[in-house]
Amino acid sequence: MKKKALIIGNTDGIGLAVTKRLLANDWDITGISRSESPIKHTAYHHRVADVSHFEYPELLNELLSEGLSDLCIYFVGIGELLDPLDMSHEPEVFDVNLTSMVKTASAVIPQMVKRGQGHFIGVSSLADELISAEAPSYYASKAGFSNYLRGLSLALKPKGVCVTNVRFGFVDTKMAKGDIKPLMMSAERAAEHIEVCIKKRPARYTAPKLVIPLIKFRKVMMKLGAK
Ligand SMILES: NC(=O)c1ccc[n+]([C@@H]2O[C@H](COP(=O)([O-])OP(=O)(O)OC[C@H]3O[C@@H](n4cnc5c(N)ncnc54)[C@H](OP(=O)(O)O)[C@@H]3O)[C@@H](O)[C@H]2O)c1
Repeated sequence: MKKKALIIGNTDGIGLAVTKRLLANDWDITGISRSESPIKHTAYHHRVADVSHFEYPELLNELLSEGLSDLCIYFVGIGELLDPLDMSHEPEVFDVNLTSMVKTASAVIPQMVKRGQGHFIGVSSLADELISAEAPSYYASKAGFSNYLRGLSLALKPKGVCVTNVRFGFVDTKMAKGDIKPLMMSAERAAEHIEVCIKKRPARYTAPKLVIPLIKFRKVMMKLGAK
């Protein structure tokens, strides 16, 4: 029997690279995003939907009723620079990055717990440790995202369900903004890291490791700046 995966946010970037790799490894995949998928494959099924739409949980329940997934990966993420004169996009960043991930976990994980097996991966960022004046909603939503998944991981491990919080540095996709992108990796390299997570199922996975000292340095500078 083929293993089944549900991948949210996979018409582009890291999600697309992971979907291609898993199809090559004989997985059966259902993907969700707002546009049609570039992938044409007999083991791939795509649903066009916006995770922030009120009907998204119904779509998840419909898909789960058609067959349960061994693996679910939530890739969807958006970032907006703060415009203090127009903050109308701020709630959307939390809806898409955080609340919709929680809606996904809430639909998928109880089915996994009933079966006593399954793996939920959420793709976060090293931004989860930082505070940003430029994009506070992105950084804060990723902090909530990572904390939530770490709690879920502790709660669900005894029930046979693994939860992995992946924290990437810069990855070369349309999402990577800014002039300075130290140690940026390709989407294909990021997909290799996700494959390691699928095999080893760690609670937390950070890549690239070399970015960690840079984050620590930025945290020190943040603290000094706050004094
Ligand atoms: N790239 C980086 O430097 C970097 C670094 C750290 C962490 N991350 C995280 O990694 C994850 C993937 O990022 P990426 O770089 O691969 O981004 P990306 O290239 O922008 O891809 C995002 C994917 O999410 C889908 N999507 C966006 N909004 C959606 C919505 N409302 N409903 C449904 N699907 C939606 C997009 O497809 P549609 O447009 O078709 O909907 C696309 O397939 C994100 O959570 C991001 O925060 C990225």
